[in-house]
Amino acid sequence: MITWGISANSHDAALAVFCDEKLVFASHSERFSGKKNDRDLCPNLVDHARQLYGEPGRVYWYENPYFKTLRQLFAGQGWKWKDNDIKKYLSRYGINCPITYVDHHKSHAAAGYYTSGMDNAAVVVLDAIGEFTTYSVWEGNGKVLRKITTLDYPNSLGLFYSAMTQRCHLKPNEEEYILMGMAAYGNPSKLTRDILNDFVSLPNDDYQHAFRIKKNLHRGCQDWRPDLIVNDTFDIAAATQAVYEMAFERVLQQAASMTGSRNLVLMGGCALNCSANRLTGKYFDTTWIMPNPGDAGSAIGAVLAKKPQWAIDPKYFTPYLGYDMGSQTTNAEIVNYLKEHKICGLARGPAEFGPRALGNRSLLADPRGTDIKDRVNEIKQRQQYRPFAPAILEEHVDMYFDMPHGWSTSRYMQVIARCRHPGHYPAIIHRDGTSRVQTVPDDGSPFRRLLEEWYKETGCPMLLNTSLNIKGQPMVNNHADAEKFERLYAIRVFN
Ligand SMILES: [Fe+2]
Repeated sequence: MITWGISANSHDAALAVFCDEKLVFASHSERFSGKKNDRDLCPNLVDHARQLYGEPGRVYWYENPYFKTLRQLFAGQGWKWKDNDIKKYLSRYGINCPITYVDHHKSHAAAGYYTSGMDNAAVVVLDAIGEFTTYSVWEGNGKVLRKITTLDYPNSLGLFYSAMTQRCHLKPNEEEYILMGMAAYGNPSKLTRDILNDFVSLPNDDYQHAFRIKKNLHRGCQDWRPDLIVNDTFDIAAATQAVYEMAFERVLQQAASMTGSRNLVLMGGCALNCSANRLTGKYFDTTWIMPNPGDAGSAIGAVLAKKPQWAIDPKYFTPYLGYDMGSQTTNAEIVNYLKEHKICGLARGPAEFGPRALGNRSLLADPRGTDIKDRVNEIKQRQQYRPFAPAILEEHVDMYFDMPHGWSTSRYMQVIARCRHPGHYPAIIHRDGTSRVQTVPDDGSPFRRLLEEWYKETGCPMLLNTSLNIKGQPMVNNHADAEKFERLYAIRVFN
């Protein structure tokens, strides 16, 4: 029996395929259409899934279209049922099998909990908006997920962060990670009080609500503090991150006290805030964030919410679930090239399902040179203030980084850690001395073997690892994309 999980018709559409009880494929639509954060299913993606695994017997959809339509009406957007008629939407792709709708936050919670391997956990979902819910806490026990508390629209920490992203002249729902990077360059104390006064309250005596948002920020706050000049943008970013972290700590406190659990599963788009994620260890012993915690990952979560018996042990969970490019070159060839040229692309095997390149669609570089950051920035054509991440052999991480409490590993680049030798690795150090580390375990994967070869040849256990994509476009997916990248930037891409 073939089962599909689908998250689409909003932003960053995705499709997951289960063959009987096994997850065998998952991809973002954008990788097939070439349109970044493509909101719709791409016909090529649907055809690819069909060709590999056949027609689905049932589709699990990541949210409830009826409640979403009601919320849109409540939010003053009018009656939008025509846009939310999922049966009609899917029939355009020739998908006419039965559809099961799953609550938006339940899809997030299930994607996290049922891939965590935990028997008991506090499950926190924080995003911009589901049908109505924007924040929920669940208790996972055995195979059962029980909802404990929720906060509804327009109280939304995700919408707050997106509104401030737009206020900083960035693209909301897409460039929040840039705001997070900018925060290290600003002075948070200048505007934190103002942001708290105008937007976020952190009630001391209200146990039921970790935070409250004072204004509906669905349409942004671009007119906020017009007196601030462009140079103040970094201070807005720093204060936004500081306020987010204050509210995030309240959330963690509330989830820990409500569940009594020492294990945390964190999901929703806010779980991508790797800077704030360092705080989870203050309240929990272990943290699990599924590698694709945003709405795209709910393509997997929608299925697992209804099929908890298909839960995936994290020992066997892999983020490499997308289009498979195979492989033609040896690690020795790649390492020899890197030793001489310092930078190369790598596109081989199945693509990552999630926003991070984890070694299968990566631009790699020697992290030691003083000019490497500028050279990679030039290729990526991106702002100088944005950091690059290191991928490091997991057993070496403590020699090079002070991992935050509760995070002995970071296999999917989900948390920042302070570098112990920043002077030696300038290319992967952010302004605040931290790095968004990827620890690579001894699992025999081709990327692990590549890092081992690099270490053997150079004595350096890490490589700079950033996504292989043309500016403004999604990550490379197939051979044609890789060749286009190679031609455009004159950078060798190994397969
Ligand atoms: Fe969401």
